[in-house]
Amino acid sequence: MKIAVFASGRGSNLQALIDASARGFIPSKIELVISDNRDAKALKRAEAARIDNLFIDPGKFSSTGEYEEKLIEILREYKIDLIALAGFMRILSAKFIKEYKHKIINIHPSLLPAFKGLNAQEQALEYGVKYSGCTVHFVDAGIDSGPIIEQAVVRVDDNDSVADLSQRILKEEHRIYPEVIKDILEDKIKLKNRKVIKN
Ligand code: GRF
Repeated sequence: MKIAVFASGRGSNLQALIDASARGFIPSKIELVISDNRDAKALKRAEAARIDNLFIDPGKFSSTGEYEEKLIEILREYKIDLIALAGFMRILSAKFIKEYKHKIINIHPSLLPAFKGLNAQEQALEYGVKYSGCTVHFVDAGIDSGPIIEQAVVRVDDNDSVADLSQRILKEEHRIYPEVIKDILEDKIKLKNRKVIKN
């Protein structure tokens, strides 16, 4: 299976996937990294790992549809089977998602369905939950609403800043994202309605 990672920023999850692939934990190489941000550190990380990396400038396309057509063209060229979103800050259209049905996964820094959308760690702190965490899920046409593949729980401490909690969650993100991708590549993940079952 050929993997592409979409990332807009820092790329620490991308790095975790690159490292997991390099040490043979993920039984496949990441073929391609795509970013919508020219300055994304993720692109530099891909470059350092000698992975093809492309900045596709959304500003060069007159609509989301055209932008996504370009993405699909590239993904086909590379014969990509699995798209891992890792801090990709664009919402993919229902049309794009249909094209890659159940082949797009995302990692989100909360225990979904709680705290969807942006600044999930801050939302969790403001709400006052005692536990938060991260979720890897299939991407559907909603926001952070697709079938849940895996989650990890972290304790929220009374004095946590957003940075403290984010850091604690990130550590778990870096652990479960490679695990899920390994399971998908080994064909252990099955979808039953919206429930994900691991064999
Ligand atoms: C992570 O917190 C991830 O859960 C969210 O965006 C952040 C990306 O971080 N979707 P990084 O770019 O992988 O370091």
